[in-house]
Amino acid sequence: MRIAMIGTGYVGLVSGACFADFGHDVVCIDKDGSKIDALKAGRMPIWEPGLEALVKANVERGRLEFTTDLKAGIQGAEAVFIAVGTPARRGDGHADLTFVFAAVREVAQALEAPVVIVTKSTVPVGTGDKIAEILAEEKAPKGTSVASNPEFLREGAAIADFKHPDRIVVGAEDEHARDVLREIYRPLFLNKAPILFTGRRTAELTKYAANAFLAVKISFINEIADLCEAVGADVQEVARGIGLDNRIGPKFLHPGPGYGGSCFPKDTLALLRTAEEAGVLQRIVSTVVDVNDKRKASMAGRVADALGGSVAGKRIGVLGLAFKPNTDDMRDAPSIPLVQALIDQGASVIAYDPAAMEQAERVLPPIEYAARAQQVAEGADALVIVTEWEEFRGLDLDRIAKTMRGRVLVDLRNVYERDEAERAGMTYFAIGRPAGSSAPLRVAAE
Ligand code: UDX
Repeated sequence: MRIAMIGTGYVGLVSGACFADFGHDVVCIDKDGSKIDALKAGRMPIWEPGLEALVKANVERGRLEFTTDLKAGIQGAEAVFIAVGTPARRGDGHADLTFVFAAVREVAQALEAPVVIVTKSTVPVGTGDKIAEILAEEKAPKGTSVASNPEFLREGAAIADFKHPDRIVVGAEDEHARDVLREIYRPLFLNKAPILFTGRRTAELTKYAANAFLAVKISFINEIADLCEAVGADVQEVARGIGLDNRIGPKFLHPGPGYGGSCFPKDTLALLRTAEEAGVLQRIVSTVVDVNDKRKASMAGRVADALGGSVAGKRIGVLGLAFKPNTDDMRDAPSIPLVQALIDQGASVIAYDPAAMEQAERVLPPIEYAARAQQVAEGADALVIVTEWEEFRGLDLDRIAKTMRGRVLVDLRNVYERDEAERAGMTYFAIGRPAGSSAPLRVAAE
């Protein structure tokens, strides 16, 4: 099967490389010549574990190519995936479809034979219908159809998620599109991955509903964490206690500084705009957006509280800037409002992140950056763990505490136990875990 992938961003590149790895012939197309040149030279535009090796292996086997020439790239393809960006529109927060529609128009004008056009980008309900209208306007070859095949990839685990998905969702209105997508994903059915064939609008909405539900789950446990702090309960144990109920499930119940990243903030807003346009209330998602924004904005207050009420004149060491581990992505990262507020309130900040410091420099106010984790603690009044990178889980707290001025540890990801921090002479502040409750929950079955 020959596949064209338009857009070599995060989703397009991972999907293209994985499809090639399934044995398909894939051409990845992007307007950005410097990106294509870099990819041809084996350099990845994003930081994703395993991607470089996967791309190289498939290029060597002749199954993966890169080009800026859309017209040539799509010839002979049976499916053309659209994986261009759909950023939140300035002003109303709805998904900006300019790039999607421009790509579709260009494809329609260049096509010499019918194809299935598949949206991989997250697009609002009804986008498939609009694409079909563009195809008609541009007189695309008869038999060209439109399908929706949303991705559910997590940054940092995207290749594993692609190859071992919980499910594949395909929204299509014709049998040919369903056949082509069934064939593309054949290697995964052999692994028993469930495939759901739905209508196009249903597939489009499924993506938004999935991300909105996960955002609800995170915000729910974050609010329960606040309650735990107020009443002397331990949120880690509450999460485990509820998560063992199969109906709830143990995942996405880690409290923290609020969700960030390229998907949840953008997709929840887009879902609200779709609901508004449809004249339907979405009170839960709307509240979650508000709860999460306020949570992120409140994290500097936690640091101030830990320091007796104010950060003015204090030196704060920040561990982790990316919105989550294993990525250099700073989009909507909780570290942004935190660092900004600390600076605004008169603190000096020194930060370290294993991958995101270059990206961080572009979006954070001027701060100091350290070359190693231990360095941010030197002379600091407080150390704040913002992203739970593996390398922050095994810090030598004894050694670190000795180099600090204030010995306060604010652990916004509950990476440490209170006991071990206190043994190192630190005053420890976690999320939803009051003093004296760090004993693990006993489960009879274990
Ligand atoms: C998410 C979805 O998981 C994926 O299916 C979708 O296609 C894209 O969006 P991603 O943004 O890469 O993926 O990261 P994810 O691991 O889901 O984390 C998102 C945010 O939620 C991060 O800021 C993370 O720290 C936060 N989070 C996640 C929590 O605070 N607690 C949790 O329990 C889980």
